[in-house]
Amino acid sequence: MQITLTRPDDWHLHLRDGEALQAVLPHSVRQFARAIIMPNLRPPVVTVAAAADYRQRILDALPDGARFEPLMTLYLTDSTPADEIRRAVDSGFVKAVKLYPAGATTHSDAGVSDLSQCDPALAEMERAGMPLLVHGEVTDPAIDLFDRESVFIETVLQALLKRRPGLRVVFEHITTKEAAEFVASAGDTLAATITAHHLLYNRNAIFAGGVRPHYYCLPILKREKHRAALVRAATSGSPKFFLGTDSAPHARRAKEAACGCAGCFTALSALELYAEAFDLAGSLEKLEAFASFNGADFYRLPRNKGSVILEKEAWTLPESLPYALDDELAPLRAGELLTWKLRETSDQ
Ligand code: DOR
Ligand code: ZN
Repeated sequence: MQITLTRPDDWHLHLRDGEALQAVLPHSVRQFARAIIMPNLRPPVVTVAAAADYRQRILDALPDGARFEPLMTLYLTDSTPADEIRRAVDSGFVKAVKLYPAGATTHSDAGVSDLSQCDPALAEMERAGMPLLVHGEVTDPAIDLFDRESVFIETVLQALLKRRPGLRVVFEHITTKEAAEFVASAGDTLAATITAHHLLYNRNAIFAGGVRPHYYCLPILKREKHRAALVRAATSGSPKFFLGTDSAPHARRAKEAACGCAGCFTALSALELYAEAFDLAGSLEKLEAFASFNGADFYRLPRNKGSVILEKEAWTLPESLPYALDDELAPLRAGELLTWKLRETSDQ
């Protein structure tokens, strides 16, 4: 069996920089025409000038002849000025601004400690229609790790949407039934991305027969009822939900450690993983809108012209891939079988 989709985009991607960028970029280029590039480098991408430089490094790292459009983002801080937002809008290549609550995840220490400090920037974004991409977790260590997303909705997101009703927001990598239901019932200024791993796995995957660090990401995998709710949302046909892999590479040594980094590397087989999730739900016919239309429409960008062909065929993922820092990269589900395979991509 084969399916053909309009060429998809990845609306949430970590490409890193330097050698790591060189190693991971070709995988995303094979799969996607465009991607929203996360700004959590060290130091973070807080200015349009830094985003321009990073964009150029990505373009310079593209394989010969490849066509791929990096859609850049700025990293919001307590002191991002409204002027920087204005410059971002005028640049044409910065498509969104990312909110990391300070301390929520990898390289988020320079993030926002007090959202009220960001009001001038948020007001400008609301005025200009520039989307805010939200890592939706509270950071209070007293809140249970598995509850941080639902508490974020109650204590931060609802108030933000009320205060800035025209602000366009993408609730990134949602992981709970509460988030899926909240997004579905909110106005059309709110949308959400969903990762392949949150559609395929629940939290048991992190502890199957021992600690499995490659299944550890933030927001963390949740209970089965949440996974099921995410599948229902992704396959519902609602234009508010779209593909965002959150593919987040870390060297094997950094993952398989006493204090391992958060992030699942899925870029190698992203479309295959999503196809499997939609197939298991009996909803393959809903995959194209989720992967190729809804995100572009929300970002007010044209849909892609080309296509990809996916074939139902079992194949084994490699155990590891080359990576930077004299280390290797383990893809999610390394060495295991996948049920779908990306066959062909065309730009036309
Ligand atoms: O698991 C994660 N890894 N979650 C994030 O929010 C950041 C990401 C990373 O950059 O590694
Ligand atoms: Zn991310």
